[in-house]
Amino acid sequence: MKLSLIFILAYLIGSFPSGVIIGRVFCHKDPRDAGSHNIGTTNSYRVLGPIAGTAVLFLDILKGTLAASLPMIFHIPNHALVLIVGLAAVVGHAYSIFLHFTGGKAVATSAGILLAYNPLFFVIASTIFISVILITSMVSMASILGPLMIAILSFYTHDWLLGSIATLVLLFLVYRHRENLQRIKNGTENLVPFGLYYRY
Ligand code: G3P
Repeated sequence: MKLSLIFILAYLIGSFPSGVIIGRVFCHKDPRDAGSHNIGTTNSYRVLGPIAGTAVLFLDILKGTLAASLPMIFHIPNHALVLIVGLAAVVGHAYSIFLHFTGGKAVATSAGILLAYNPLFFVIASTIFISVILITSMVSMASILGPLMIAILSFYTHDWLLGSIATLVLLFLVYRHRENLQRIKNGTENLVPFGLYYRY
């Protein structure tokens, strides 16, 4: 009973549409109306500006970390549950009950779960993520390559649980980025205004 409540709570936390709320309340805009129409950090940055975009990033990461911390908060100290309950927040972010079961791509929320589970891997993932953006100027590329490297690193370090969940999340992220991947293939992906690829 307690566990099902934890899963529901995690889903509701993930469902909180940070981009839409910040956009509507502080910027009188909705990130779904422009750019890639996504509610995540990248499009919030594009449509709402850097301050709002940064706030969305922190809130979306926080959603993952908070959801993944629920087992600990409710005194169920189980390392595996951190990841499994965290997944409910990923589902909530992508299929939010507050947005008629639509939502974002869940990159930042997934990163928040990793922060709760293994802070060192979070730092490694963030470093890979930023490096890929600085080279390719594409957040979508970083959103796929970051989790891919974490999945590989997890299996390499014999963390089979994290490896399996990271692979699952990676497949989900590939699915959620299918339009981005098509644009990358066509050479039409949106670029951030910095990084090597943008400059040359
Ligand atoms: O996390 C989303 C990012 O990878 C791509 O965002 O808005 O360019 O589709 P966007």
